[in-house]
Amino acid sequence: MLNPFRPEPAVIKEIKKETHDTTTYTLTFKDANIQADYFFQPGQFNMITIFGIGEAPISISSDPDNRSSFQHTVRHVGNVTNKLATLQEGAIVGVRGPYGTGWPIDLMQGKNVLIVAGGIGLAPLRPVILHLIKHRAEFGKVEILYGARTPNDMLYTDQYADWSRQDRFRVLFTVDRITGDRQWPHRVGVVTTLFQEMESTPENTLVLTCGPEIMMQFVVKNLLQRGFNQQQIYVSLERRMNCGVRKCGKCQIGPKFVCRDGPVFALAELAALPEETLGGVAIE
Ligand SMILES: Cc1cc2nc3c(=O)[nH]c(=O)nc-3n(C[C@H](O)[C@H](O)[C@H](O)COP(=O)(O)OP(=O)(O)OC[C@H]3O[C@@H](n4cnc5c(N)ncnc54)[C@H](O)[C@@H]3O)c2cc1C
Ligand code: FES
Repeated sequence: MLNPFRPEPAVIKEIKKETHDTTTYTLTFKDANIQADYFFQPGQFNMITIFGIGEAPISISSDPDNRSSFQHTVRHVGNVTNKLATLQEGAIVGVRGPYGTGWPIDLMQGKNVLIVAGGIGLAPLRPVILHLIKHRAEFGKVEILYGARTPNDMLYTDQYADWSRQDRFRVLFTVDRITGDRQWPHRVGVVTTLFQEMESTPENTLVLTCGPEIMMQFVVKNLLQRGFNQQQIYVSLERRMNCGVRKCGKCQIGPKFVCRDGPVFALAELAALPEETLGGVAIE
């Protein structure tokens, strides 16, 4: 891990536009030794600094086995992320991390995996998907349910064919609405509509979900009704952050610090949180 309070300079090596408001950046640390030593767990995040503007927590979205670079997929919504959108390849940003908890890769060994993602929530799950593909024999069946607002808002569209052709992988898509006269061969509706054609059952399965909190509430409620239990469902929470290292309290919900105890939590861990959060679903 880097010095937790000092952003290290990293070079933007490649910029790939995903959608009208979302971009994937490939970065390498300027210092080759730092890059060589840097590794992360799927689900962890970095604090990204735009010097002179500020910092934002952003999940790492790339293959954890790739030690020569790392990626962030960023939706341009505010001060830091909009400034990032103006930078070109070769520009320098600051990076602190990796921080937080990752998805339970060790517990997933030998189990089926159900991934439910909404919108930009696919970004912290892509490292898991890439890990599952690379280490296919270690895991059971994999089912990915992905929902976005419109077909034009979907991330990583050039990778779906590869994901779908993997052994014992099933990938299902839905969008809230179709724009224009575009052909759309998949579902229309919120991501839980995909549960109707889902093959995953509670038996020997772990669930990973990330997306808007309201989406995760519906996903979790629906899964609990289908017989999944709180120990087998993992969620990734998002809160505003300053320090990223459990010092400032900005990300605190009840007794939990999202930056250090999360962002990935087992649903069972959230039962002590206020009811308006996912804790409300966990104690039902
Ligand atoms: C663990 C973690 C992982 C994340 N991963 C990603 C990722 O992979 N990709 C990604 O794009 N984003 C990710 N985010 C979200 C990202 O950190 C936020 O969108 C961040 O606020 C962007 O910073 P900004 O300076 O660009 O936006 P800001 O200027 O902070 O504004 C962001 C939005 O919040 C609103 N806002 C501003 N101030 C407040 C306030 N005080 N209270 C409530 N709302 C406010 C603004 O109106 C705007 O809509 C992640 C967040 C967390 C916690
Ligand atoms: S961001 Fe400071 S305590 Fe979590």
